[in-house]
Amino acid sequence: MTNPVRAKISALGTYVPPRLLTNADLEKMVDTTNEWILSRVGIRERHVVDKGVATSDLAVEAAKKALAQRGLAPTDMDAIIVGTVTPDMLFPSTACLVQHKLGAAGAWGFDLSAACSAFIYAVQTGAQFIATGVHKRVLVIGADVMSSIIDYTDRATCVIFGDGAGAVILEPAEDDSVGLIDFIHEVDGSGGCFLQMPAGGSLNPASHETVDKKMHYVHQDGQQVFKFAVRKQTEACLKLLERNGLKGSDIDAFIPHQANLRIINATADRLGLRPESVIVNIERYGNTTAGTIPLAMNTAIEEGKLKKGDLVLMASVGAGFTVGAALLRWAY
Ligand code: UT7
Repeated sequence: MTNPVRAKISALGTYVPPRLLTNADLEKMVDTTNEWILSRVGIRERHVVDKGVATSDLAVEAAKKALAQRGLAPTDMDAIIVGTVTPDMLFPSTACLVQHKLGAAGAWGFDLSAACSAFIYAVQTGAQFIATGVHKRVLVIGADVMSSIIDYTDRATCVIFGDGAGAVILEPAEDDSVGLIDFIHEVDGSGGCFLQMPAGGSLNPASHETVDKKMHYVHQDGQQVFKFAVRKQTEACLKLLERNGLKGSDIDAFIPHQANLRIINATADRLGLRPESVIVNIERYGNTTAGTIPLAMNTAIEEGKLKKGDLVLMASVGAGFTVGAALLRWAY
């Protein structure tokens, strides 16, 4: 076997729907306050879709921007991987819908289910096709319409989530000075009960009863998820840094999943990161599940914190539980 080819992220596009749902709006819907949401979670506003707009629509807009940035056509893509927990429907996959809407004739694709870790998992999955040399260009998308599975009478969950998408193009890196370096993925299935949408699958197919019992919404034990997220996100990042001979202070941009500002800050402290390296945009978007990391990449670019050769650490914890940490050098 020939040496694996290192993959790089060659372009990024993001998209959020225009409609805003602010903390002031939520104060009118449930028993909550702007002060509670800002201090406990760190969110001021999130974007939500209008009726009839689906995950594939957000994904396509993000993908178009990534393609335009790189000057590539949809037909240049070999494969499309969509990380999402809110597919347009159970089947066909959102990747198939995106392939059609985008006009990416010739590309195959599939959805990847790993909740908030889906973008990191999808990037590493796509990178394997580059590594083996079978593909030259893989479109990787993280996209979720969380508003489609949120109970807007439940204050414990409805203040947290938003809708959004990000897309990257993976291509072979010209040399080892840029591109994906290493990753750690872990799953702890014993945590599945703490964050789930119980109905709509084969265990609890849709029925009047499942709808009446609100089983098609996100159910979360926030404290259990919080504790696991702080502990495992830190552990995975430390392990990854250590085995690459790095310290937290070596990281130029830490791009974590944006679930709770307190989780991000706790992880950053424990890793010994430089404060200016920690990328945060939860205030503007909330938790967009598979969309958070590419949206945060875009924020890093907007803030001038991401340039060619920069060492980037991405991290996530999500339903499953799923855990992801990945190291890369930014390529453009
Ligand atoms: O991306 C997927 C991974 N998900 C996560 O990482 C989420 C992790 N968990 C969290 O971020 C936090 O646990 C939450 C933001 C979900 C909740 O924050 P918390 O500080 O853990 O609050 P809590 O659940 O311990 O609740 C504290 C109090 C409760 O009231 P009592 O029982 O003390 O009277 C809640 O009923 O806060 C109450 N509360 C609220 N109050 C005002 C819960 N939600 C709200 C709200 N507004 N929206």
